[in-house]
Amino acid sequence: MKASIGNRIVLIGAGDVGIAYAYALVNQGLADHLSIIDIDHDKLVGEVMDLNHGVVWAPSPTLVTEGSYDDCTDATMVVLCAGAAQKPGETRLDLVGKNMALFETIVGDVMATGFDGILLVATNPVDILAHATWRYSGLPASQVIGSGTILDSARFRFMLGEYYDVAPMSVHASIIGEHGDTELPVFSSANVSGVPLRRDLDGDPDKRERLTQIFEETRDAAYRIIDSKGSTSYGIGMGLARITRAVLRNEQVSLPVSTLLQGEYGQDGIYIGVPAVIGRSGVLRVVELELDETERQQFARSASALRAVSEQFEV
Ligand code: 2OP
Repeated sequence: MKASIGNRIVLIGAGDVGIAYAYALVNQGLADHLSIIDIDHDKLVGEVMDLNHGVVWAPSPTLVTEGSYDDCTDATMVVLCAGAAQKPGETRLDLVGKNMALFETIVGDVMATGFDGILLVATNPVDILAHATWRYSGLPASQVIGSGTILDSARFRFMLGEYYDVAPMSVHASIIGEHGDTELPVFSSANVSGVPLRRDLDGDPDKRERLTQIFEETRDAAYRIIDSKGSTSYGIGMGLARITRAVLRNEQVSLPVSTLLQGEYGQDGIYIGVPAVIGRSGVLRVVELELDETERQQFARSASALRAVSEQFEV
């Protein structure tokens, strides 16, 4: 199995997040070819071997190889997981200085190959780096997607599912805003198997308190995991694979991602987490949820926080 045919994904950054993504991708048989680029060549050799040794059990084969930037030329997607990750006690926004400079170089190298596919950004602070990637790449905003609040929404749905004793797939709820400390839950339209959460929020003080706690635990989950095991990886890896599937299979499914707002939600010119319809050409459109007054104010606050960082770093 040598030739690269069909979909090629180039993954840049073989740290915990990148490899969790690669593992999810191979397990789901989503791509024909996965090329991985990393500055630590010794580690990369081992990761590529290890991933290839599981391919026989996957639903369809993925050719996993050590990559180079030349592989981006005809890639369907380039997925950016490179950069410094949060350490205990750091916020995502603390990483901006370190990772912006790196991204200017990486995105420049990708674009020098003539790449014209979808850029998916996972590195934190993801909203700021997705915005910077869009600017550095010169691609249309529809082709540059940040993982945004896909992970936060998955955590929220999981915890609500535990509370209501139902699978997270039957929980319909989004976290929007910054992937970080100013994010917010959209309780106003959330429902479990079609039953609005509003009923419990407005009708029962104990349930209201628990639901508020569930959001706080969602927002702070990364801190808890980083304190415990040093990094988060599987949740984001599977979230990135979900976005990849939406692109490769042109699913036109709505997912919470970081995308450029151009008037939606009363905001213009920032990347931030909102639901968007994703297909083969990237973000097809932003979905405007009907927010209540509190949610509108929280969203505006989150957008201002991101805007302040973007302006400070001249994104
Ligand atoms: C997460 O939320 C750290 O952004 C990463 O798991």
